Amino acid sequence: MNRRLGVLISGRGSNLQALIDASREGRLDATIVVVISNRDDVQGLERARAAGIDALTISHRGWPSRDDHDRAIVRELRARDVGLVCLAGYMRLVGAPLLDAYPNAILNIHPSLLPAFPGVDPQRQAIEHGVRVSGVTVHFVTSELDNGPIVLQRAVPVVEGDTPDTLAARILIEEHKAYPEAVSMVLAGGWRIEGRRFVRSASAGSASPSPLRAGS
Ligand code: GRF
Repeated sequence: MNRRLGVLISGRGSNLQALIDASREGRLDATIVVVISNRDDVQGLERARAAGIDALTISHRGWPSRDDHDRAIVRELRARDVGLVCLAGYMRLVGAPLLDAYPNAILNIHPSLLPAFPGVDPQRQAIEHGVRVSGVTVHFVTSELDNGPIVLQRAVPVVEGDTPDTLAARILIEEHKAYPEAVSMVLAGGWRIEGRRFVRSASAGSASPSPLRAGS
């Protein structure tokens, strides 16, 4: 698989930073060739530039349609021969032009154990629901929000007295490990999508995930 990554962001970019660090430290055999934000002046763009990565804003405003915004993103990704797209806190729905340009080649990270608590404020949803365990999911992006084949999940405990912020901080620690690992697994190949399952062949090798664990 083409190991050139494009990362789409809308804000802070801590997961972007985790991918940058992993590729610099040799834990992720990939090159981030472009970071695209739909918002200007976000921390993630600064992180990208500090790492010497091409960083652009393509605002979602001012296009005749949502699809035109997506098409503009596709043009920039293709111009740099991106093979895998990673959404990292990208707060937009991905439309047909981007999905069609990158079939089974767009990943997203979401701070809950999907299919529980998709959409906004998943940490608040988890606390209000009273679950004892939440976590992180890395999944392929489809036309349905937070609903594609699951590549990797990690469990994180919800503890007494948690607020959305304290739970988010605990989950974020796992996100930063999970995303580079999931990207490595996908780039390593030896997998297929069966129905809505991400299935790895027995020989799909070195980038095997750590076992699912709660609270380690
Ligand atoms: C993360 O919790 C990610 O899972 C979610 O949005 C947040 C983005 O944080 N999709 P950051 O911009 O990566 O710091």
